[in-house]
Amino acid sequence: MMSAGFMLVPTRFLDACHERCGDYFTLRPTADREIVVTADPEAVKRVFTGDPDLLHAGEGNITLAPLLGPGSVLLLDGAEHLRHRRLLLPPFHGERMRAYGETMEEVAERRIREWPSGRCFAVLPSMQAITLEVIMRAVFGFEDAERRDRIGGPLRRILDAVASRPRVLALALTAGRNGPLSPWRRFAALRERADELLYAEIAARRRDPGGEHGDDIFSLLLAARDPDGRPLSDSELRDELITLLLAGHETTATALAWTLERLARAPRVLDRLLSAEAAGDDSYLDAVIKETLRLRPVVPAVVRRLQAPMELGGWELPAGANIAPSIYLVHRRPDIYPRPLAFRPERFLEDPPGTYEWIPFGGGVRRCLGASFAVFEMKIVIRAALRARRIGARSGARPEGVTRRAITFAPARGARIRADRVSPAGAGHAARAQSR
Ligand code: HEM
Repeated sequence: MMSAGFMLVPTRFLDACHERCGDYFTLRPTADREIVVTADPEAVKRVFTGDPDLLHAGEGNITLAPLLGPGSVLLLDGAEHLRHRRLLLPPFHGERMRAYGETMEEVAERRIREWPSGRCFAVLPSMQAITLEVIMRAVFGFEDAERRDRIGGPLRRILDAVASRPRVLALALTAGRNGPLSPWRRFAALRERADELLYAEIAARRRDPGGEHGDDIFSLLLAARDPDGRPLSDSELRDELITLLLAGHETTATALAWTLERLARAPRVLDRLLSAEAAGDDSYLDAVIKETLRLRPVVPAVVRRLQAPMELGGWELPAGANIAPSIYLVHRRPDIYPRPLAFRPERFLEDPPGTYEWIPFGGGVRRCLGASFAVFEMKIVIRAALRARRIGARSGARPEGVTRRAITFAPARGARIRADRVSPAGAGHAARAQSR
């Protein structure tokens, strides 16, 4: 099946393929690449629980290699992937992760104060600013803004170079060409500058491990050792730091923008959320975030490349085939989610889906490393927004369309909402969203 439609109208295209072909169909994004898409939760389960040596994920992310480098957990497979994953996981869970809560709240409150009042605006850029600052501070731990900007500025510029599909495409088309107008040349120069700064920082921290740092992710990764006592090398560390910055900010910003876009257009849900928050009940906000990630998954699919033939759903797939569990289509199955197009967080409280039926963070040994961190941050930012502003939309505003950005399905108009400042007299609405 031709897949130009996937580039232009991705969600309509996927819906049409599913309707015509059912739970399995093949896309050809380029002449030499085939991807078998599946919307069958049984197949998803087999892919996520299958042998990682048979189902490689790293190869599927190869277009990011020039930015991330070969030592990135996103690009590795097999034993090396597991080694990196184990070293990276601890800062993203439990108490260590919760230590970043204060920073998240401070950044969110400051950025939300900048929102206009009394008119509609696109909230996505503000969410990108919040999540980028949060991940930078969680990773580097610089409290000193001047130091943060010295390393953050160049890093921001290389992340920006891969922030949209046209930019990624321009880099792929000019890769290795150093003509004066080549986007690749500009990118390579930016990367060199960022790498110089990162390697200098790695050297400084290795010389003085205690230094002025504490629980930031950088310091934790420097100190981490695998069971054989082996640390991450300088270049592995550089690649993982860039990976965390890239994987951690655009995805979370887009998920936050969708949450506000949905809430602004669903006053009944918003009202119930405010009441639940006032009662100190966290479960409804949790359900709102789950329902947003169901209906508007930020990453529409994940890909695994077969290293040997495999049977799936009655199909014999050869070695080299790419299998893509479609997060987007699984989340719209009416047999799992009755009235799938309705935004109904209650469904997660009444009849929660199974492990392989709600998969916004992928699954198995490749499941998103930052899933808990992302949901934790989303809760803090949404609560800060509800406390300070009365969220709404232009009257009669329609649901925003979906557009493909670099790796995400994002709101086509940047998630346009209204967020009027709450006057002290009318603070009842906002005061109900407590800070926790
Ligand atoms: C709402 C926000 C996010 C979404 C929707 C998301 C989604 C995903 C998805 C779908 C995958 C691929 C999983 C698979 O192949 O099965 C993934 C992998 C990954 N994510 Fe996230 N992510 C989010 C936030 C974050 C954050 C905050 C971080 C870190 C700071 C992060 C770090 C990673 C890493 C390192 C991987 C690679 C894991 C591996 O290959 O073992 N993500 N994410």
